[in-house]
Amino acid sequence: MLLEDKTAVVYGGAGSVGAAVARAFAREGARVVLAGRTLATLDRVATEIAGAGGAVETAQLDALDERAVDEHADALAQRAGGIDVSFNAIRYGDVHGAPLLEMPFEDFARPITTAMRAQFLTMRAAARHMTRQGSGVIMAITAATARLAIPEIGGTGVTFDAIESLCRQWACELGGYGVRVLWLQTTGLPEAITDEVHPAYGTGSATGITRAELIAWMERSTMLNRLTSLAEVGNVAAFLASDRAAPMTAAAANLTCGQVPAR
Ligand SMILES: NC(=O)c1ccc[n+]([C@@H]2O[C@H](COP(=O)([O-])OP(=O)(O)OC[C@H]3O[C@@H](n4cnc5c(N)ncnc54)[C@H](OP(=O)(O)O)[C@@H]3O)[C@@H](O)[C@H]2O)c1
Repeated sequence: MLLEDKTAVVYGGAGSVGAAVARAFAREGARVVLAGRTLATLDRVATEIAGAGGAVETAQLDALDERAVDEHADALAQRAGGIDVSFNAIRYGDVHGAPLLEMPFEDFARPITTAMRAQFLTMRAAARHMTRQGSGVIMAITAATARLAIPEIGGTGVTFDAIESLCRQWACELGGYGVRVLWLQTTGLPEAITDEVHPAYGTGSATGITRAELIAWMERSTMLNRLTSLAEVGNVAAFLASDRAAPMTAAAANLTCGQVPAR
């Protein structure tokens, strides 16, 4: 197993991405902590992981709350003997389906400021322990929109671009301690694109694009004519978190099915 004896915390662990990553980490032998604001949804994922034989616990916390994030990381590191992997997959309150021309500044800026605060706080909390240990992997998820300009996605592209830049900054400051920082750059994830998550794209929305039409359009924009699955996100996250990926830092795992060709 890739992650035997590792302790991994997944912020947003009840979400589509967070749960997929947590499942893969647990399957590869990690002790997984699912962190989020709602215990009921965290418990559902934890029950499923435990049912499959995984070692899992939950923690109710807001990733925007500096003290809560620090206290949880400190207590976890003390109890578990360290933190080996930190993955932040929370959602940032993006608004899609309206042109910037009509968008209130707050709707544009919310995902950027939320992502920067949550990612910075959770990365710093883990990094303080990982630097003492001399090892650890910090990870985030972005999407093709970090590199592609797509209309009517508000602050999402800027948010992902900023997360990738933040990862590079952390990586250059943590590399000397043996700590790696990586991000997964994906296509839109069809299993995670519910009409709730992207209401502006639902039938009868301002743009009139149905979920199926959105997915078909995204598929056509890739070289492989397909989109990334949640299981694939989990599999690659587990590999990156493992020692098999030891030389990788300040790097994206490009899971865009060719939507964003590497240079
Ligand atoms: N869906 C896609 O196609 C796609 C593609 C690429 C990248 N991404 C990115 O991947 C991330 C996760 O997406 P998803 O589809 O998995 O979202 P999701 O299903 O809505 O899950 C997000 C999770 O984050 C938790 N959360 C939100 N705010 C939080 C906070 N302040 N503190 C702690 N937990 C918080 C939520 O639970 P509580 O509200 O209960 O806390 C929820 O469980 C997002 O940043 C998204 O932009 C998504």
